[in-house]
Amino acid sequence: MARLVIVSNRVPVPGDRNPAAGGLAVALADAITPGSLWFGWSGARATATATRPEIRTVAGITFATLDLGETDYRRYYSGFANSTLYPLLLFRLGLVSFRKEDYVGYRAVNRAFAAALAPLLLPDDIIWIHDYHLLPLGLELRALGVTQRIGFFLHTPFVPPALFSVLPRAAELLEALCACDVIGFHTEDYRAAFCDCVTAILGIRPNADGGFLHRKRLVQVIVAPVGIDVGSFTASATRAATGAATTGLVQSLGGRQLAVSVDRLDYAKGLPNRIHALDHLLSRYPTHRKRITFLQIAAPSREELGHYRGLRRELDRAVGDINGRYSEPDWTPIRHITRPVRRTTLAGFHRRASLGVVTPFRDGMNLVAKEYVAAQNPADPGVLVLSRFAGAAEELGDALIVNPYDAEEIAEAMHRGLLMPLEERQARHAAMLARIRASSANRFCERFLAALDGAPEPTPEVS
Ligand code: G6P
Repeated sequence: MARLVIVSNRVPVPGDRNPAAGGLAVALADAITPGSLWFGWSGARATATATRPEIRTVAGITFATLDLGETDYRRYYSGFANSTLYPLLLFRLGLVSFRKEDYVGYRAVNRAFAAALAPLLLPDDIIWIHDYHLLPLGLELRALGVTQRIGFFLHTPFVPPALFSVLPRAAELLEALCACDVIGFHTEDYRAAFCDCVTAILGIRPNADGGFLHRKRLVQVIVAPVGIDVGSFTASATRAATGAATTGLVQSLGGRQLAVSVDRLDYAKGLPNRIHALDHLLSRYPTHRKRITFLQIAAPSREELGHYRGLRRELDRAVGDINGRYSEPDWTPIRHITRPVRRTTLAGFHRRASLGVVTPFRDGMNLVAKEYVAAQNPADPGVLVLSRFAGAAEELGDALIVNPYDAEEIAEAMHRGLLMPLEERQARHAAMLARIRASSANRFCERFLAALDGAPEPTPEVS
């Protein structure tokens, strides 16, 4: 059987403190079996980027990681990946900055990854590359003579040509990505936007199945929504709900309803607007005052970047403002935690929350929305308020869908959710549960790998 090789910027080596790769580890848990290889950045910075990976094998899985040099880290990770590509793919044109040296550093790190990975590859390997940090990695591997099948999956949205073509080097990057045999997206929207870019920027028209020929190679473009292992998350939520952390939380609520939001502290997550929504809720419907506690958990992210530090200050101010205006000696509307909290602990909090509020301005998928649904007690489930611009909204139409830019609309949905009759909550929850079961983590891997497995044997690169 072919060996699976995963490549991603972050690598969740067991035992490492590396929570940022958590979502990916959850999504790939079923595919990454003993014998697999996972390659990427170690999470550490050194004077220069390593040329040889550090290799560790844990429970039969081999993890090969490279330290990044300071300059490469700045240009590749903080620079082109997170100051150019990320804001662009999240539709935040105003936050996009471009520096040529960042692009050069980004290409250099992709080349360094390819050079360090190529010697580790076996002839029958299947290579699966993840996310916007590594758009040109497939091309760099091909340039080293790698002929094994290569797949790429994008975890963010993809933007239409009018936006993508703003990117200097847009054509070069699209071309580089087309060195992969299969390119996958979470939703039909993202897939269509990508195909439109291929047509508008490269002048190639994909067929109805999303396939096209590029330099005599067939490229397939597929939709495979990422998911979670519903059964195990439900079990862990049920267990955690009676554990110390959740019990302590519930006791501290004094019988009040709980609303929960969990995010990375990122400008795409719509955090300040959600806080403004709570302001609307409490001023428009004073009946909720002292009856609801909003638990906002936002784990810091990319703090070396100014936009992230600015967001944190803005959020701290917004929370302080609302708590100052509405708090009573025995009640504070918002509990605001800016530290990562373990997924298993969160599972218990979700289970006890009457409302899950997930309102990103944009999000590739948003697994928290799926986790909230999986954590609920079907006999007495909470209500999910979900942004229409999260990829998850394509599957979770039975949530209360909102426009995340409209704080009043979010407030109305929260009000409706808090008062929703049991029968309606049960019906909505059952429908959503069926959807997340149908697009589980396992199904995600199966879909993608089946497409990659069925891809025609690649021929050496023709230029
Ligand atoms: C997003 C990206 C992931 C990334 C994660 C955490 O979800 O799609 O690829 O790993 O954010 O961000 P970080 O920059 O800390 O890796």
